Amino acid sequence: TFVVTDNCIKCKYTDCVEVCPVDAFHEGPNFLAIDPDECIDCTLCEPECPANAIFPEDDVPAGQEHFTPLNKELAKAWPVIVTRKEALADAKEWDGKPDKFKLLER
Ligand code: SF4
Ligand code: F3S
Repeated sequence: TFVVTDNCIKCKYTDCVEVCPVDAFHEGPNFLAIDPDECIDCTLCEPECPANAIFPEDDVPAGQEHFTPLNKELAKAWPVIVTRKEALADAKEWDGKPDKFKLLER
């Protein structure tokens, strides 16, 4: 499966959702999560993310491994998103800031 990681938080560009053939993305207030039970590893979303926040499960950056179970948990709790929308207001400022996990809203 593919995993959304830290740099999506407070950016949420949503370019990723348009290309997913199985509607695996789920939307929370300031982060998206991929449902691992839906993802078919097509790889299409990974290059779409302007924040480079999407990784294959086997290639999640060191220290961010907790995002793999987190995507599953949040995908089950949040609604599906299939249409791109405006990024969050301060997305450009937050893009690239480290350790945004503490700012994740549920
Ligand atoms: Fe969807 Fe493909 Fe990304 Fe999986 S890898 S979340 S199937 S676009
Ligand atoms: Fe997040 Fe990147 Fe998608 S910032 S919403 S994973 S395009």
